[in-house]
Amino acid sequence: MRDFLIRGVICQSRDPFQISITEQGTVVVTDGVSRGVFTRVPEQYQGLPLLDFRDQLILPGMTDLHLHAPQYSFRGLGMDMELLDWLNTYTFPEEAKYRDLEYADRAYDVFVRHLRRSVTTRAAIFATVHVPATELLMDKLEASGLITRVGKVNMDRNCSDAVREPSAEQSLRDTEAWLRAAAGRYQRTAPILTPRFIPTCSDELMHGLRRLLAEYGVPVQSHLSENFGEIQWVRELCPESRFYGDAYRQFGLFGGDHKCIMAHCVHSGEEELQLMRDNGVWVAHSPESNINLSSGVAPVSRMLRMGIRVGLASDLAAGSSENLLRAMMHAIQASKLRWRLQDQSVPALTLDEAFYLATAGGGSFFGKVGKFDEGCEFDAVVMDDAALEHPQPLSARDRLERLVYLADERCVCAKFVGGERLF
Ligand code: GUN
Ligand code: FE
Repeated sequence: MRDFLIRGVICQSRDPFQISITEQGTVVVTDGVSRGVFTRVPEQYQGLPLLDFRDQLILPGMTDLHLHAPQYSFRGLGMDMELLDWLNTYTFPEEAKYRDLEYADRAYDVFVRHLRRSVTTRAAIFATVHVPATELLMDKLEASGLITRVGKVNMDRNCSDAVREPSAEQSLRDTEAWLRAAAGRYQRTAPILTPRFIPTCSDELMHGLRRLLAEYGVPVQSHLSENFGEIQWVRELCPESRFYGDAYRQFGLFGGDHKCIMAHCVHSGEEELQLMRDNGVWVAHSPESNINLSSGVAPVSRMLRMGIRVGLASDLAAGSSENLLRAMMHAIQASKLRWRLQDQSVPALTLDEAFYLATAGGGSFFGKVGKFDEGCEFDAVVMDDAALEHPQPLSARDRLERLVYLADERCVCAKFVGGERLF
């Protein structure tokens, strides 16, 4: 059923700085696409079946703009190091296990089941270097009903043998075979090129990925300016680049003529920020990860005011939870510490801004997604906050704010992706 009316307390972003709430509102959905929010349903739609959620809150489905599916198995563990040691000590040994399809099957089952139950409707996902396990993950995600971009990771240097691809040539050959196999195979799942980050990708590999990008028209995702040690390393590896993002640009993998997501951007300087804005690069802001790995706090409200595209990300497993409501909370909290301790020229994030990041901000990577405006694909989560008891009636906005701090997947009582109801 992709034509229906859905009624409840409708919350969405009016713009990056303002939430709009319609009590007793109705979204008209035809062919899986929203026709807008109404307080009186237009005549021609009045015969459509009604899903009446009464006093429950209906939010746009949320987009997780950056996470690592194979790392879900060690979420909540190994939070005692900074990025580069954390990768070598915990991450690469875990990702090496996905060479074993039986392990991948068990681990990805758990991951997909949890993501399906969460407030997330769309996601941009890193897998591992292994093609068979990446295809298995894509099959499971397709069956889940979520809409995702999934990347087979590329890495051919500066990492342990267990996860390093033997050569740039082999990495590119595997990637091209994977792209060909994925073409036409899925409705909801699509590939995205995924050079892990510059330290683990040779120049030859990066040039080859640019050729694949041009030939197959796929987007790209990677990591940028997350950690001081990493940034210094890239300076040494790419002495001809002006800054980290400029190195990606020199390889033709930094937006402009293609869609591009860069995770973190905690320490991006002025030139890097401007280049991201000019090239339409999406920043995947991962506040909990940036706390856990002692990376810092990205100046997100500044990015929003500059007109940079920004979405929210769990960055599992440097972030411990797939719950993007929790990521909204962390984004607000971290921004307050940043304001207090680091830079008072960048204001703390508001609830409205954090809500925008999780919905329309990240959703825009997938097209007209993250709102209920006319023409937007209908992704929604219906939130039942009855378990978050309170002794007096609350305004819809107060209920929404409490969800951000107190809710988890147990409050998600219905979920729609691209007009299809998942549960
Ligand atoms: N940079 C390169 N790889 C990773 C990763 O797996 N997680 C995070 N947070 N940063 C990275
Ligand atoms: Fe990451």
